[in-house]
Amino acid sequence: MEKNLKIGLFGFGCVGSGLYEVLNRSQLLDARIKTIVVKDRNKKRSIPASYFSFEAEDILGDPEINVVAELINDSEAAFEIVKRAFRAGKNVVSANKKLIAEHLDELLALANENGVSFLYEAAVAGSIPIIRNLEEYYNNDSLSAIQGIINGTSNYILTQSNEGISYQEALDKAQELGFAEIDPTLDVEGFDSRFKLSILIKHAFGPTIAPEQIPVKGISGIRKIDLDYAKERNYRIKLLARAERIGDTLFAVVAPHFVDSEHFTYNVSNEFNAVVVEALFSDKQLFIGKGAGSYPTASAVLSDISALKFDYNYEYRKSERQIVINTEAPLAVKLMIAADNDINLNDLGLFDIEERYSGVKEQYVVGKILTTKLKDLFARKEISLTLFNDAPTYASAELDEQLITNQQFANV
Ligand SMILES: NC(=O)c1ccc[n+]([C@@H]2O[C@H](COP(=O)([O-])OP(=O)(O)OC[C@H]3O[C@@H](n4cnc5c(N)ncnc54)[C@H](OP(=O)(O)O)[C@@H]3O)[C@@H](O)[C@H]2O)c1
Repeated sequence: MEKNLKIGLFGFGCVGSGLYEVLNRSQLLDARIKTIVVKDRNKKRSIPASYFSFEAEDILGDPEINVVAELINDSEAAFEIVKRAFRAGKNVVSANKKLIAEHLDELLALANENGVSFLYEAAVAGSIPIIRNLEEYYNNDSLSAIQGIINGTSNYILTQSNEGISYQEALDKAQELGFAEIDPTLDVEGFDSRFKLSILIKHAFGPTIAPEQIPVKGISGIRKIDLDYAKERNYRIKLLARAERIGDTLFAVVAPHFVDSEHFTYNVSNEFNAVVVEALFSDKQLFIGKGAGSYPTASAVLSDISALKFDYNYEYRKSERQIVINTEAPLAVKLMIAADNDINLNDLGLFDIEERYSGVKEQYVVGKILTTKLKDLFARKEISLTLFNDAPTYASAELDEQLITNQQFANV
């Protein structure tokens, strides 16, 4: 594309205003914002009113604008804006993980039809340059796993919880500091991480996985008994988003995990994000950085805009690989389930049980479970589940027998 980038910006909130600032302060990039479309006519703005419009057409119908930066907080409206931008022959950069996780294939088809680029580095792990690395650097090395902490709000709350502060206090503090929304559901229930994981899977392994296909458990149901268990064994609980290839099967999950001091994410605290990439030849590598915030997120948007100077576009080369993906395969993972004493933990399908404990009020059991059962178990509010970070295994041929044996043992 021509080297002179004229940007139409949708949204002037946390990330949009950050983009305005970083563009002004960036010496290297010759790209300027021409028009900013926002929603609220009564809001006071920190920059001249001449920048602002309330009509999408002022960007989408302007032939001089060749880049649309979509930085609004409404994924449905964003879907329409991005489609119209593609049809108008404009490149788009976006930070909207929900939009991308839910509509990527349709958007890509439209972008390709119109010969334009669609970049979204800021949508996953804020300032951490993970998508372009997965696309370019890890293009030849065969990836076996990608996992990480990709939601700063829940990591902040968990860091506080691991230090003995209650969930509610930690959430209040996170809201006070601006790390958590008034309605924190998307963050604390793991949905935000799940959107991001489905995008990571696309770039790491190739397939398009709808977010709903990935079992998700957030952090709001973590019990004191889980935190005590972690503390006694020098573990920390982290909300990990994981995708791992085991043979021809992809295991994907977002859930609280016990991690030991050897794990790359053990010391990743507060609002920081981290992504661990595991590949055949390069082994494990850790990316760490700020996963949100005005300037860190805007820096990723800036990098995308800068890449457009060189006509960069993701190539999704791994999509062409024939990998059998099955998140419903009979894999087994190790986990701990805790609940009040009046809940029956014996009929949940746990096998290879390693530990059982029953206190005055609460109990727990540590064992293995088939990944096909995770979704149903995650939906049960009366039990808490924390996974161990061991690689999943194929469930053995003797599995049925073991299940029966455990059931008999439990019923004695
Ligand atoms: N905040 C972060 O740290 C972060 C990190 C990574 C990714 N993201 C993603 O970045 C995007 C923006 O987040 P944000 O935190 O910057 O949001 P925000 O601070 O809430 O700002 C949202 C902006 O969008 C504008 N807007 C909403 N609906 C619109 C519409 N239909 N047309 C035009 N403008 C509209 C709002 O206009 P008014 O100003 O008129 O209200 C506001 O300026 C989201 O997709 C978010 O998930 C954010």
